[in-house]
Parts: sequence; structure tokens; C-alpha cells
Amino acid sequence: MNYYFDWKDGIKEDELNIAIEELKNGKLLLVPTETVYGIAANAYLDDACRKIFDAKKRPQDNPLIVHVSDKGMISEIAEEPNEIEKELIDNFMPGPFTLILNKKKVIGSVVSANMNTIGIRMPSNEIVNRIIKKSRIPIAAPSANVSGRPSGTCVEDVIDELKEKMDVIIDGGKCKIGIESTVVKVIDGVPMILRPGYITEQDIERVAGSVRLSDKLFETIEGNDHVESPGMKYRHYAPKTKCILVEYGDNQINRINEIIHKNNNVCVLGYEEDKSFIEVEDSRFINLGSRNDLKKVSQNVFSALRNIDKIENCELAIVEGIEKKGLGLSIMNRLSRACEN
Ligand code: TXA
Ligand code: MG
Repeated sequence: MNYYFDWKDGIKEDELNIAIEELKNGKLLLVPTETVYGIAANAYLDDACRKIFDAKKRPQDNPLIVHVSDKGMISEIAEEPNEIEKELIDNFMPGPFTLILNKKKVIGSVVSANMNTIGIRMPSNEIVNRIIKKSRIPIAAPSANVSGRPSGTCVEDVIDELKEKMDVIIDGGKCKIGIESTVVKVIDGVPMILRPGYITEQDIERVAGSVRLSDKLFETIEGNDHVESPGMKYRHYAPKTKCILVEYGDNQINRINEIIHKNNNVCVLGYEEDKSFIEVEDSRFINLGSRNDLKKVSQNVFSALRNIDKIENCELAIVEGIEKKGLGLSIMNRLSRACEN
């Protein structure tokens, strides 16, 4: 790392100029967004984007999302959106929403992993937005984590695993939302959710009149299966400790307690209101927040998954599921991909 900028209390203009110079010169920046931190590079430079794949140990066939600051920038890099796509852009950008559009040639094959499309996102976070707006450079950025690990929602969580690969680290504090953007592709006139996120199925239906959920959101994908989004094929978000998910439903707490008593050295990732019924020591209970405040849960979920590995002598983490509805569906997508069952 060459530069560490602390912008928790605001952007510092002299440092902003340095960050932009570095971006122009093909360097890698760790930047906050409202969803999760990103490993950012100039999307016009293939060599810079190749370094992202190296830093993350990311499979070469998994494309990067390109971040823009305004609609003018979308038209520089993507073909004209259709009516439904325009509606989605007007309603959900800027924000935690990624739309897949056909790409223009200015975006190279490294970013798009040789696909004809690219994911476009207009972040609302002030820091990343200012960098893009002032530099006029679209930023390619995946989530900040080594592939397969939980995404980073604060600098402290990822600095050890990424600091050697980053040229600039910008600390903007804890991410407001905490889970990644909703990834959507309009297919035959109907928006399909390829990755659920903060913008829910219901939000999209309200705007577009219809919506479909990919049938692969909770599946393990076999080698040659066709997927709309390469990211679906890979294990994600996993702590080093073995994790199992106990699905929401009847007797959930009894089912958890049974597993606790059959195993040694467990910990539990669960909800505030269940804590007193779950038969594990306080120091082995990781609190996700209340089931009635899913926004808070989404903000906590990745740090909580990372905290599993900090519990001493833990051989098994038992993860409490919630109902797959609204934001709960997006949280469950992350939790189930982190678990081995
Ligand atoms: O909130 C977010 O989206 C964060 C922040 C940093 O913006 N970014 C992020 O990027 O989560 P990443 O690379 O970790 O996840 C992007 C997902 C991957 O699963 C990828 O396969 C999918 O989006 N994706 C990207 N481009 C695509 C494309 N052209 N077609 C289908 N899926 C695509
Ligand atoms: Mg990711």
C-alpha cells in the first residue's frame, strides 16, 4: 500500500487528486461504496483490471461490474437501454442496483470476461461517486475480498488480506447497506434477478410490472450448467470454520440446540431475540441483530461471518436462517452460500 486515506469525516481534496492520479495510472484502490467495499481500477485499462483478478484470486470467467456517476457515462460504455431498462435506471440509480446491458467496444474483454454484456452500477456513496465524477473514469470494481471469502464492509475486515495488493486504501467507515447490489438482467422484457440484494423483488415488480428470480439463487451449480451470471457458479462468503445452516421454520431453536449438544466447540450466528433460548455460552453467540430489523442484519452479516473465525477453538458454526422474503431472501442467499449444507 502506498497511500492510506482516512475520509471517515469527509473527503480531503488534496488526497482526492492523488487518488484520481493513481486511478488514471492503472493503480488499484480500495474504495467504499454504500453496499460493500470494492477493489477499484480504471475500467478502460485492461492491464489495471487484470490486477483486480490477481488481487482477488478471482476466476477469469467472472466479469466485473463497472461503476459510473451519471447517465451520460452509461451511454459511453453501454448500448442504448430499452424502455424497461430505462425505467429501472430512473428508479434505482444511483443506488444498490446493477443492470446488465450490452457493452460497447471501449470496455475490453478483461472487465467483461469475454461476454458481450457488462454490469453497470451507479453508486450513491459520496466518496466513490466523487472519484468517478471528478476523474470521468468509469471504475471496474468487484467486492473487496479474496474470492470465496465474505465481502468487506469495513477496512478493518479486509486490510490484512488485501493491503499488499492495493496502491491506495480509502477508509470511509462502515458501509451503510452491507450486502452487495441487486444484479438484474432484462430477458424477453422481464427483469430477472441474478443476485438478490438490497433492492428487492417487490421493489422491482412495483416499477417494471413483473419480475423473475433466477432459479439458481440457492443451487449448487454443476460444471457445465448454463448460468446467466458466472458468479453463481462459485462458492462465496465462506468463513474458514465449517458452517451449517438451520433453515427457518417449526422448532428452529430446538433443532439448533440439538446440534449444539451433539457437537463440541460450536458457535452460533443468530438473532437477538433468540439468544436467551439458544443453549450456548454468551461468548460463542454472534449476534446478527433483530429479525425485525433486516436492514441492520444486512449491515452486520459479512462482519458476523468473519467473526466466526475469531472464536477460539470453534469447529462448527451453526447459522440461523430467516424467512426468504423481501430483504430476507437476499440475506439468506449470502448465508446459505457461506454454509456447506
Ligand atoms: O454492490 C456491489 O455490487 C459491489 C460493489 C463493490 O459495487 N460489487 C460486487 O461485485 O459485488 P462482484 O464482482 O463481487 O459481484 C458481481 C456479480 C458477480 O456475481 C458477477 O458474476 C455478476 O455480478 N456479473 C458481473 N457482470 C455480469 C454480466 N455481464 N452478466 C452477468 N452477471 C454479471
Ligand atoms: Mg463478490
